[in-house]
This record gives sequence, structure tokens and C-alpha cells, in this order.
Amino acid sequence: MARILLTSPLPDEALEPIAGHDVLTVQSRATLGPLEIAEAATDVDAIVCQLLNRIDATVFAAASRLAVVATVSVGFDNIDLESATRAGVAVCNTPGVLDETTADLAFALILAASRLLSDSERDLRTGGWTDWQFDRYLGRDVHGAMLGLVGYGRIARAVARRAEGFSMHVLHHARRPTGLTGYVAELDDLLRVADVVSLHVPLTPDTHRLVDARRLALMRPTAVLVNTARGPVIDEEALGAALESGQLFAAGIDVFEDEPAIHPRLLAAPRTVLLPHVGSASFATRVAMARLATSAVAEVLAGRRPLNTVNPEVFDK
Ligand code: GLV
Repeated sequence: MARILLTSPLPDEALEPIAGHDVLTVQSRATLGPLEIAEAATDVDAIVCQLLNRIDATVFAAASRLAVVATVSVGFDNIDLESATRAGVAVCNTPGVLDETTADLAFALILAASRLLSDSERDLRTGGWTDWQFDRYLGRDVHGAMLGLVGYGRIARAVARRAEGFSMHVLHHARRPTGLTGYVAELDDLLRVADVVSLHVPLTPDTHRLVDARRLALMRPTAVLVNTARGPVIDEEALGAALESGQLFAAGIDVFEDEPAIHPRLLAAPRTVLLPHVGSASFATRVAMARLATSAVAEVLAGRRPLNTVNPEVFDK
């Protein structure tokens, strides 16, 4: 029987794969930081964490028995992978099970930002809608628009499938040529022509501030930017400025650099839809993600190598 730390409660269905182990669940709704996790993890064999739990060298130094960390997210930028690998700890994530749900949300943001849904709803709720006006709340058409996908993994492709139903023209950029119709080798070229740009890249040193002031200036003043990937992929200060000045038409943002804090300039920006990182937040998908994470833990503890291990080289050590 191994000891497993859950940094937050998980649905019952997700506990089945680790039944029989000693499961220690942090009940607090507050996000634990690395020091608190290190303290709670000194004698555990596995940790199941959430995307705002930072798992760094402090945790690996304190948890000498640790064999696996599973994050209930597809992004694993919350985990110091180098330290994990050095410590011989397997890191697992939850790919595949959240693609369609996240693509739904990305598409919701494409529609909501293009048609100014947040600004107009805010007006209605605060008594600002006093008369119907022909030229008020005018947005940009989504149907027939040019969609530029940045990154072309599973979620981006799921967004592309939805775009087809809206008769959008779809381009995509990825670091390596995909060999598929619509591939654009240079990100700058895609930004210059797209009416809607949707970001689907993982956060890495290469994608940090990928969309900065220079690149925002390349975009059309009628364009809409959507981010369901990770906050630091965009320079938020520059995005706020571009929205204020009208250099960019609108933005739909689900992820932020310093979650749950929101850059004040973004919070105040016009024509912006902001959501509290809910890309994968459906009942079914959250259960599937949690279950995939706990299954990976059970596999590692049983001496097997789960496919959703992001540093499989640890198994060869
Ligand atoms: C959500 O952002 C995830 O990485 O699963």
C-alpha cells in the first residue's frame, strides 16, 4: 500500500483506480504552494495535483519516496520537469480527454469576443441599455472569417472542425511543417491575414510572450485574439494597450499570466471577454481528467509505464 497525496478533493469515480492505497486529501479550497506541498509530501509515494499547484525542486528535495506526480491538466508547465527527472520522478498529465471540451470553449470565446457579448451583457445588467440602436454593439462576423490557429495539436484541430461548420477559412501555424492544407510556416504571416487568431501552444521558453507588442501590431485592427492555452503566451500589458487604442478589435481570454490575479489593464480593456480558466470545465471532462491522473499514479505504483508520462526517460534509470 502506497501513500498518495491529493492536493484537492477529486470525484469518487477518480478514486477507484487508487482504491486500496492510503490516500491523503487536502480539503482546503485554497491552492497549496510548493512549500506547503513539500511539507505534506515528505512521506508520500505519489502526488495528484492541479494546474495552479507549483511543484518545484523544494517538493522533490522534501519528498524522498516520491515516484510520480500526476497533474490533472494537459499543460504541465506547473511542474519543474528537469528537477522531477533528476529526482527520478515520473510526471504524468491528462492529454486527449479534454480536447473537445476545450475546443467548445475556444469556439465560445471566438463567438463571444467577435460579437462583443461581455460588453453588451454588462450594459444590459447595469442599466446601460436604455434604447435599441441600429449602430450599437456592432461586432465582426465569425462565419466566413479567416481563422488562424497557432499550434496544431489535438485541441487546435478540434477547433478547426468546428470552424468548418461556420464556413470559416482555416490556416494553421506550427513549428514543424504539418504537410496539411492551410499550413503557414511563419507565424507573422498568419497574424497579418487572420480575422481570428486562436492560441493552442503549450507554455515553454519558446512560447513565452510569443504574442508580444510587435506581433500584436502585425494583426489587423479588425482582428480578434483568443487564448485558451496559457496566459504567459501573450504579453498582457501589450494586449491591454492594443485593445485600448483600437489596434486590435477584441479578445477572448481564458488563461492569465498570474492566475487567479488578472492584469489590471486587461481587466479594464474594452471589447474583451475574460473567463476564469474554464476551458476543460464540464462535469464529464473533469471526471475523465481526474481519473486519467489517478490511473497513471496507480500504473506507476504497480511498476508500469503509463503512456501519459511526459518524462518517460525516468523509467530507464
Ligand atoms: C488546462 O488548462 C489544462 O492544461 O488542462
